[in-house]
Amino acid sequence: MENRPPGGQAGSLSCNAADYLAPGTGAGRIEAPFRRQDLRDVLGMYATGVTVITTGDADAPYGMTANSFTGVSLDPPLVLVCAMSDGQGAAMISAGGHFAVNVLAAGQEAISHFFASPSRPRGREAFADVPHRRLVTGAPIINGAAAHLDCSLVAEHEAGDHMIFIGEVLALGAEPSIRSPLIFFAGRYQAL
Ligand SMILES: Cc1cc2nc3c(=O)[nH]c(=O)nc-3n(C[C@H](O)[C@H](O)[C@H](O)COP(=O)(O)O)c2cc1C
Repeated sequence: MENRPPGGQAGSLSCNAADYLAPGTGAGRIEAPFRRQDLRDVLGMYATGVTVITTGDADAPYGMTANSFTGVSLDPPLVLVCAMSDGQGAAMISAGGHFAVNVLAAGQEAISHFFASPSRPRGREAFADVPHRRLVTGAPIINGAAAHLDCSLVAEHEAGDHMIFIGEVLALGAEPSIRSPLIFFAGRYQAL
């Protein structure tokens, strides 16, 4: 069966991404070759949840906002997250050997914004106004998050300008009373 994208030519090498974009996103029609910003815009059309990846311990906690979180395997229980190779997050996860994934709930946009800011305070000060607790690894588990997974680092891979970190889940939990997650789509926060 012919697998023809809407409005596109079967077998065409050009990416008629506009055919897949919702109207009004501003990304517009994009053909190959594309710019870095085009790639960001198109990847941004993949709606995701928002997490804060934490690592470190009580003395030197660390957190960064990330939407590259993915479940990988049920048995063994594995998840992954990607972090910019030259950022503090990659260095902290690699050195710490563990990370926790905090899946943010609708209403936790300010926490996402805070942990995505390059100029945020670091270390204990970063968590001074963010109520949290610790489970197995010592990485901060943020109170009020929709779900959390506490992981030991089992593999890390270089991939372009990011590192892929694979963690084995040691402990997890979800907050059943939270019915709406924080969503990131087309560069904006949304809720279901
Ligand atoms: C919604 C959202 C998702 C993000 N996802 C990622 C991600 O998956 N990986 C990443 O390296 N940075 C991601 N960032 C950017 C980092 O949060 C930001 O660069 C942060 O400052 C990195 O921490 P650092 O300054 O300690 O390196 C995201 C930002 C936002 C707002």
